Amino acid sequence: MSTAARATRLDAAFSLDYGYAVHFTRDAFDPANPVLVEALRADAADGVARVLPVVDSGLLEHHPDLPARLAAYAAHHADRIALAGEPVVLPGGEASKQDPRHVEEVLDAINDRAIDRHAYVLAIGGGAVVDAAGYAAGIAHRGVRLVRMPSTVLGQNDAGIGVKNGINAYGKKNFLGTFAPPVAVVNDERFLTTLSDEDWRSGTSEAVKVALLKDPAFFAELERIAPAIAARDLEAMGVLVRRCAELHIEHITGNGDPFELGSARPLDFGHWSAHKLEQLSHLRLRHGEAVAIGIALDSTYALLDGMLADDDWRRVLALFQALGLDLVAPELEDPALLAGLQEFREHLGGLLTVTLIDAIGSGVEVHEIDLGMMGQAITRLQAASAELDATRGTAKG
Ligand SMILES: NC(=O)c1ccc[n+]([C@@H]2O[C@H](COP(=O)([O-])OP(=O)(O)OC[C@H]3O[C@@H](n4cnc5c(N)ncnc54)[C@H](O)[C@@H]3O)[C@@H](O)[C@H]2O)c1
Ligand SMILES: [Zn+2]
Repeated sequence: MSTAARATRLDAAFSLDYGYAVHFTRDAFDPANPVLVEALRADAADGVARVLPVVDSGLLEHHPDLPARLAAYAAHHADRIALAGEPVVLPGGEASKQDPRHVEEVLDAINDRAIDRHAYVLAIGGGAVVDAAGYAAGIAHRGVRLVRMPSTVLGQNDAGIGVKNGINAYGKKNFLGTFAPPVAVVNDERFLTTLSDEDWRSGTSEAVKVALLKDPAFFAELERIAPAIAARDLEAMGVLVRRCAELHIEHITGNGDPFELGSARPLDFGHWSAHKLEQLSHLRLRHGEAVAIGIALDSTYALLDGMLADDDWRRVLALFQALGLDLVAPELEDPALLAGLQEFREHLGGLLTVTLIDAIGSGVEVHEIDLGMMGQAITRLQAASAELDATRGTAKG
C-alpha cells in the first residue's frame, strides 16, 4: 500500500465570535460617568474586575491627577472595580515600543500582581503605549483582558480601536505583535485638549486616508472643517475622530479579514513609505506626519500613472495643507526609501499589494510599482509642495 493511501487526517475547524464596544465620552473618570464600569465587565465570582492600569508618561505630565482620579473612580465603584496597585508608567511615544524592557515592565506587573485571564490591563495613552501595553496583555497567560483608553487623535481614530498590538524589533516597526481584540475601548475627548499641536494634527492624516479610500462625502466634510480643526476646535475634531473610527471599525468587521490573513492591506494606503520615512528620520517624523507624506506621494504616483485626475490630486494636497500637515520631508531623497517597498512586500509575505486611489473615495489595489515613476513622483511632489508654500506665503502677505 502506498503512503498516500495510508494517510488519514483530522479536521480541526471552529469559529469564534468577537465583538467589542468603542465608547465615546468626555471625562471618563468622573464617578458619575458609567462608561468605564461598563467597559470593565467582570465575570469574577464577586463581580469585581481587577484592573492593572498602564499609563503614558507624556499623558501623565499633562494630567498629573490621573492616578488619583482613577483611584477615586474605582473607590466609588468598589463593588465593580478593584485596582491592582499603582499604574505602571511607560515612556510616552515610540520609546515604549523601541525597547522590549517596557513590555517586560508590564509583564512583571501582570505576574507580581496576579493579573489572570479574567483580570484587565487598562492601557491609557498614545498609540505607542497602547500598542506596547496591548502586546504585553496579549502574550501574558496567552492573553489577559485589555481595555484601551487611547489619549491621542491617532489613538482614538485608528491605533487604539482595532485588533492589533505590537512593538518594534530588528529595526522594523511592529515586528513583534499580536492580533488580539480588546474587551472595550473608551475614547475620552477630554484627553485631546492637552495634545501638542503636532500630535493634534498628526492624527488627522489617518482620517484623510480612510476618507480617500472609502468615503468621498467624509472627505468633503474634512475640507469644510479643516480650518476649525487647525484652530484646535474640539467639536470639529470630534467629528473627524468619530467618523474615522467608524470607518475603521466597519472595515475591520465588514471586510471578512480582521486578522489580515490575505495579502490585501487596503488601509495601508501611503504606509509603505510612511513606515520607512519614520525609520529614516530616526522617528523625528510622527506616524501621522509620515502617513500624510506617504499618501501625498502615492497620490502623486497615481496621478503620474494616469489613474488619478489632476483636480482630485490637488484636493488631496490642499486638504493636508489646510490641516497643517507637511507634504514632504528631506528623507524622501534617501535612496533607502524605495527599498521600503521590498520590505513591505516581505512584511506582507510574497505578493506586493499596494493600495492607491483612482478618485477621491475610491481605493484600488495594484501589484506592481514602477520604481522609476515613483522617483518622478517624489520630484513632482516636492515641486508641488514648494509651489503651495509659495502661494501660501503670498496669501499671508
Ligand atoms: N495597533 C495599530 O493598529 C496601530 C495603528 C496605527 C498606528 N499605530 C501606532 O501608534 C503609534 C503612534 O501613536 P500616536 O500618534 O498616538 O503617538 P504616540 O503614542 O507616540 O504619542 C505622542 C506623544 O503624545 C503624548 N501624549 C499622549 N497623550 C497625550 C495627551 N492627551 N496630552 C498630551 N500628550 C499626550 C505621548 O506621551 C507622546 O509623547 C505608532 O507607534 C504607530 O505604529 C498602531
Ligand atoms: Zn497608520
